[in-house]
Amino acid sequence: MTPIVKAFFDEATNTVSYVVRDPTGAACAIIDSVLDFDHAAARTDTASADEIISYIRANDLRCEWILESHVHADHLSAAPYLQDHLGGKIGIGANITLVQDTFGKVFNEGTDFQRDGSQFDALFKEGDTIMIGQLRGEVLHTPGHTPACLTYVIGDAAFVGDTLFMPDFGTARCDFPGGSSEALYWSIQKILALPDETRIFVGHDYKAPGRDDYAWETTVAEQKALNVHIGEGRPLEDFTTMRDARDATLGMPRLILPSLQVNMRAGQMPEPDEEGDVFLKLPVNKL
Ligand SMILES: [Fe+2]
Repeated sequence: MTPIVKAFFDEATNTVSYVVRDPTGAACAIIDSVLDFDHAAARTDTASADEIISYIRANDLRCEWILESHVHADHLSAAPYLQDHLGGKIGIGANITLVQDTFGKVFNEGTDFQRDGSQFDALFKEGDTIMIGQLRGEVLHTPGHTPACLTYVIGDAAFVGDTLFMPDFGTARCDFPGGSSEALYWSIQKILALPDETRIFVGHDYKAPGRDDYAWETTVAEQKALNVHIGEGRPLEDFTTMRDARDATLGMPRLILPSLQVNMRAGQMPEPDEEGDVFLKLPVNKL
């Protein structure tokens, strides 16, 4: 079955969010939504999420799932806001517990912060099936960028999150806690083993040398032939050497500290204080 895929590009964070529709009915899923965040003012805004809500309402769709490919470090998730307005269940990879454990410590969260993934409605593992109306999705566990990363293969479309980017940009970084370039290599092999004509939808785009437009859709065949980091059957060691050297040069994403605190809670802010005010932490010299 061929799902209808609508992409929403957020230029502020280079993130692509998707609405995936059952072609035979009204059911849909949202993948990797964005809650806008002005870092200087620590102010949220729902313009990006509202665009998705408008699209879903204009097309009379029924939101069944709000899916995360992983705990993002570069944007906040709008999952709870979307759930309030549209319904649907929030899902992520079962290894979220590892991510919660790591960052629970980094942010000194104490015992109120549950590290069992219970903030989410569903925790997926390799081989799990997700139904979106008549449309069938399968979960691939594709760690490397983070230990909890998933790829959602829905009909002929694979939503790969931060594993592969467009062929001319390459692959995702692997230097966050729990990341591994070797794990990413094997995860990508799993994606490249899908049928050649599988549509691949990436989680971010940053343009690339010689390309002035944003892009987010490619195919398995194109990735195998052209991916600048891993195409043409690049061997494991070549890849990990390149990836680790490149990661050593990268700075932290601008929104990593607010993003992790919110996204590890399924997109919820930390509990407000007695006055109803919400605070995020800035752990010093921890990352
Ligand atoms: Fe990411």
